[in-house]
Amino acid sequence: MNTVAAQHQRVLSGMRPTGLLHLGHYHGVLKNWVNLQHEYECFFFVADWHALTTHYEDPSIIEQSVWDMVIDWLAAGVSPGAAKLFIQSQVPEHAELHTLLSMITPLGWLERVPTFKDQQEMLKEKDLATYGFLGYPLLQSADILIYKAGMVPVGEDQVAHVELTREVARRFNHLYGREPGFEEKAEAAIAKMGKKNARMYREYRKNYQEQGDQQALDVAQALLDSQQNISIGDKERLFGYLEGSGKIILPEPQALLTPASKMPGLDGQKMSKSYGNTIALRDDPDEIAKKLRTMPTDPARVRRTDPGDPSKCPVWQFHEVYSDDETRDWVQDGCRSAGIGCVDCKQPVIDAVLAELKPIQQRAREYEDDLATVKSIIEEGNEAAREQASDTLDDVRKAMGIAYL
Ligand code: TRP
Ligand code: SF4
Repeated sequence: MNTVAAQHQRVLSGMRPTGLLHLGHYHGVLKNWVNLQHEYECFFFVADWHALTTHYEDPSIIEQSVWDMVIDWLAAGVSPGAAKLFIQSQVPEHAELHTLLSMITPLGWLERVPTFKDQQEMLKEKDLATYGFLGYPLLQSADILIYKAGMVPVGEDQVAHVELTREVARRFNHLYGREPGFEEKAEAAIAKMGKKNARMYREYRKNYQEQGDQQALDVAQALLDSQQNISIGDKERLFGYLEGSGKIILPEPQALLTPASKMPGLDGQKMSKSYGNTIALRDDPDEIAKKLRTMPTDPARVRRTDPGDPSKCPVWQFHEVYSDDETRDWVQDGCRSAGIGCVDCKQPVIDAVLAELKPIQQRAREYEDDLATVKSIIEEGNEAAREQASDTLDDVRKAMGIAYL
């Protein structure tokens, strides 16, 4: 399906290949993807070119990181039956769209993206005064627009990139959606809908344009989608005509903010590889138990008999993720009264983490032992993605005057 309504319902997201994933990824991103895949048409991809924007000096780790990450996606329940899983560099259409979009993107828009200066500062040891690094948010825009995705699940730090994508799409539509005689063509298309639908379309359009009535816009879009008698070109015109004066070739996506993960790291900070406080999904169970047993607690509890305060203890944050009310009450009382020791307190967390990871690790082992299956899943996803991407690129080439044959 490639109707406009279907595009609104299409989800796209990408992840840089950073290697083995940890519980922070699982509770933040992956569980979210697993839920989305049953509700929407989903495209999830490995952003391997994005990895090169910052790690161009050390490309040897990328390939292993890609497969490790894909195995972890599959192990966590991201399903190739429900979502399309692919690798960015296997769909070179992203690069062509990036090139074409670069023609219309003012430099200032890229220089103003907050991650540009921040990351350059943070990764000072690397020379990031590169063209690829400056252009990477626009590459991300191409990743999104090439699928005409309506929704992009991202963390807070990526919202600015989706915003840039919206601006680029708007500029593109503004520049290339204007065709000679647009209004006449739009009016002719309206007439093809039949009297009743035409009247409704005009009324919704008026309500939206004069009063900014969002609901009228939604209803009008649904009305257009249900029309059987008008061509795709006419539909694009009428979608554009609803909102302004040109065709919508590249629809503007919405950021779908991923709820911040409550998953703490072993030291109570955010779980992150760079802090060295992670539990990887594929860590050995004994290793995991050891990491949890040795994690820091409220420093006030020097001796077993010293009372403590869970709000000053990272173990409590794990209880907030993993424990039921009864266990939490037991922790609160036992910690404050020194009725339980920290070793006792950690045991339910250890049990819960291991229970959560058991089926994930089982599935991961199966995929590790059968890399051929993993590769064919990705090959299938690559193909499905390419098909969609090349359709969009045809539209874009036409709009930019370079569709020769
Ligand atoms: N830039 C994202 C990150 O660093 C990854 C990414 C690349 C992405 N392309 C995307 C995310 C498109 C969403 C949509 O996390
Ligand atoms: Fe932390 Fe539990 Fe020890 Fe209290 S009893 S300090 S919550 S580990």
